[in-house]
Amino acid sequence: MNENIANTIRSKVDIVDIIGERIPLVARGKNFFGVCPFHDDTNPSMSVSREKQIYTCFSCHATGNVYTFLMNYEHMDFREVLKYLGDRVGIDTGSVHVTKKTTKYDKLYEAYNLTLKYYQNNLNSNIGKIAKKYLRERKITEELIKEFEIGLSLDSKDDLTKLLTSKEYDLVTLNRIGLSSDNHDIYNNRIMFPLYDINGRVVGFSGRIYDNSNQNKYLNTKETDIFKKGELLYHYHIAKEECRIAKSVIVMEGFMDVIRASSIGVKNTVALMGTALTKEQINLLKRLSKNIVLCLDGDDAGVKATLSIGNTLLEQGIEVKVISLPNPDDPDTYILNNGKSKFLNLLSSAENFSDYRMNQLRKNVNFKSDEELATYINKVLEETAKINDEIRREVILKKLAKEFDIGYNTLEMRINSLLKKEAKQEEVIIPKKSIVKKDKYTKAFEQIIYFMLNNDWIITKVEQERLIFPNEAMRSICNEIIYYYKKNGNINVADFYTYIQGKDNLEKVISDILADSYNETTNEEELNLYFNVIKEYSTKQEIKRLTNLMKKEIDPLEQAKIVEKIRKLRLGDN
Ligand code: CTP
Ligand code: MN
Repeated sequence: MNENIANTIRSKVDIVDIIGERIPLVARGKNFFGVCPFHDDTNPSMSVSREKQIYTCFSCHATGNVYTFLMNYEHMDFREVLKYLGDRVGIDTGSVHVTKKTTKYDKLYEAYNLTLKYYQNNLNSNIGKIAKKYLRERKITEELIKEFEIGLSLDSKDDLTKLLTSKEYDLVTLNRIGLSSDNHDIYNNRIMFPLYDINGRVVGFSGRIYDNSNQNKYLNTKETDIFKKGELLYHYHIAKEECRIAKSVIVMEGFMDVIRASSIGVKNTVALMGTALTKEQINLLKRLSKNIVLCLDGDDAGVKATLSIGNTLLEQGIEVKVISLPNPDDPDTYILNNGKSKFLNLLSSAENFSDYRMNQLRKNVNFKSDEELATYINKVLEETAKINDEIRREVILKKLAKEFDIGYNTLEMRINSLLKKEAKQEEVIIPKKSIVKKDKYTKAFEQIIYFMLNNDWIITKVEQERLIFPNEAMRSICNEIIYYYKKNGNINVADFYTYIQGKDNLEKVISDILADSYNETTNEEELNLYFNVIKEYSTKQEIKRLTNLMKKEIDPLEQAKIVEKIRKLRLGDN
């Protein structure tokens, strides 16, 4: 990797901008604070330093520079981040070589790629004629077939299994990764839609029947090492970029909906594919955009899902918008029947989830019955109490008062008592942080490293002293800093992060240091005190070693020599 380019690019972007575009940051003193996206939290435990160009979470100890942030937050690899930031500041990264990490799943991805090509080939050959006709009738154009890499599994028992076993895949592997069962193909005679992980790799398939056979409409890949349905959203890898441009993400139920929307140029979409929204998926959604729009099916199940997902997100403080389609349309059929501009109109008239919920409550209420009306108003008040926005609450109360000719004060009183209840329930218990107690040697070591990262002269000092640190990780981080400094003639934490990229044990040591509170600068006198603590440790270790050695020694002359050494060490005369 060309570190110089990486450092140049890094110096031209401001980490506060990059993180601030993704999570809200508030300035406090020298630093900026926000809710850390790398662990479950609602408190602003992440600090971003403009001066140092690094971020630090004091709760989960996630730390790093702009590269590590984007890699972890956007799930990009280093190459992608380099290109993304390079494009931003107008530096060409095309020639930068980054060695790709190999993983133990490479072989599985490869199997899925082979299978993808095989399915595509089937669809495009003569054997795929009937399937093609079906797709044509559904207005899935050749262009869409290509774009979404749609294919076809054959009406055969073991065509794919045979192909893959001939390419050095064994049956056990094929069973494990959900392509075969015993020695049979899992998918027979289905139109195959590849499913991608968040990085755009094919990790599974959904196969749809296209004749009138009475099998399950869709058959999906089982959960495997690389396919975890609850941890992905269909189309996420494309939506990543599109949502940034559109400044919103649209959530649909099925991939057919996403494909259709894409055909009219609406590409900031993801599909849930028949699952309840998981925590991981909520996190993925939040990463795509702050503005989440639900556009689920117009049938009863769709309304139910909209209410349930909207409530879940609202509880987390996210107010989504909702597009209601007429029953029983889904985005696919709606767009097919009504065209692009009608759908775009719907999009621009999306309503706030709390309004949607209120309107849903209205359905089937007989407003002539006093009892039903009272129940309705009470329900509305309960829902309104959950809205965390005074002005919005007041607007709703005013509307209610006017519409049903009820005193505003009566409504206000009722909502205030509901709010008190809510507040009581919401008293959060802050979990005690597990504070790992560090002994004085670790503390001294970490302080010295922190000094080194911030003061060139201290690096030189440490080198001259030939300090021996208590453990391997400490020694190597110290050596790396010295080496880095010699090579570059200066050091800063942000660039040092790029340098130790991928050296997991070193990243962890640095993170633990940065997430603690150490002093940044010092003087020579104080520095020597820290050195002495480390030396004291080395001496203790050496005495321990010699004592053990002496116990094993049988020659009295040798023993005496060791005793003398120990004595000298104790006196500090070594
Ligand atoms: N689904 C599934 N298994 C089923 C039915 C649905 O996995 N038996 C998932 C699919 O991923 C599908 C999504 O749930 O994309 C939405 O289901 P549905 O609305 O029934 O599918 P449509 O998108 O309407 O598909 P089609 O128009 O082809 O019927
Ligand atoms: Mn549908």
